[in-house]
Amino acid sequence: MRKGYIFIGKGGVGKTTCSASLAINLAGTGKTLIASLDPAHNLGDVYGVNLSGKPEKISDNLFAIEVDTDLLTKKYLERTVSRIKGMYAYLKVLNLDRYVDSLKYSPGIEEYSILEGLTDLISLDYDHIVLDMPPTGLTVRVLTLPYTALIWIHKLMELRNEILSRRRAVESITGRKCVIIDGEEVNIPIREKEDPVMRELKEKKEKMELVKKFLSEKCSIFLVANPEPLSLFEGERAIDALKNFGLRVSGVIINKYTADNEITERLEKIGKAVKVPLLSSHPHGIDMLKEVGKTLFGIAEVSR
Ligand SMILES: Nc1ncnc2c1ncn2[C@@H]1O[C@H](COP(=O)(O)OP(=O)(O)O)[C@@H](O)[C@H]1O
Ligand SMILES: [Mg+2]
Repeated sequence: MRKGYIFIGKGGVGKTTCSASLAINLAGTGKTLIASLDPAHNLGDVYGVNLSGKPEKISDNLFAIEVDTDLLTKKYLERTVSRIKGMYAYLKVLNLDRYVDSLKYSPGIEEYSILEGLTDLISLDYDHIVLDMPPTGLTVRVLTLPYTALIWIHKLMELRNEILSRRRAVESITGRKCVIIDGEEVNIPIREKEDPVMRELKEKKEKMELVKKFLSEKCSIFLVANPEPLSLFEGERAIDALKNFGLRVSGVIINKYTADNEITERLEKIGKAVKVPLLSSHPHGIDMLKEVGKTLFGIAEVSR
């Protein structure tokens, strides 16, 4: 068994229902946390309990959290501003507050804060962590972010090294380690170990490597789809997109299945395609979900 279980799929296919069901059954084997990382949470509704941004115990060995991604974005921006202000205090001309205001709306910020939420969870002391994710597009961007971010971080580290090496070259000619800004002498870092920008890049690199390792080595990814063409096609595209980054989907759950449904051949072949029948009422509450979870428990043991 792995530590992380990630449920992906189109909106409305049953990711929250399936992840909530599996989590109840995993709790029978160890301390389990289920986390909703979908900004449009409905995990609490599915269990029939009030959840918050902190893990709440909802039954024996089972804890649940609805991660507050807006709060994470706010905290991330505040931290970034204070760090940038610290690093570039000498650049008074830079209107940082305006820059940060625009960052709130910058593309990628939602993905980044969801990834921050995920990173915070993996260090917590649980045997199993079940992740109920947002719909496919956003989730694929979140899961592949560590891979693309690491490419950027390496490039930025190379550039920073070049800047530092040029500063050292200037110092060796002028004998000075400072620059004149607005008529004032300002000391600037010229070596890697004294450079706060390089320190920041290294910290980011370590964090991204940690989450990348968790995703690729400790997680199983399950695709939830309904037996209808659009959901199946979207599922197939998500599998391909993740494969490009070396992330493999280990199992497929065909939810809301009825006997007359056709399933594309390809999805049938991926791992074990588990079928969860279309129930006559909305699955909710611990007892009903436990029943659904029994069907899913087998896929948690699928090894890759
Ligand atoms: N097997 C099922 N049978 C009947 N209704 C289901 C089943 N699975 C999920 N549902 C219903 O489908 C809707 C969407 O489910 P949800 O788990 O919230 O999807 P998602 O998290 O993928 O958006 C909910 O109303 C849920 O109760
Ligand atoms: Mg959901």
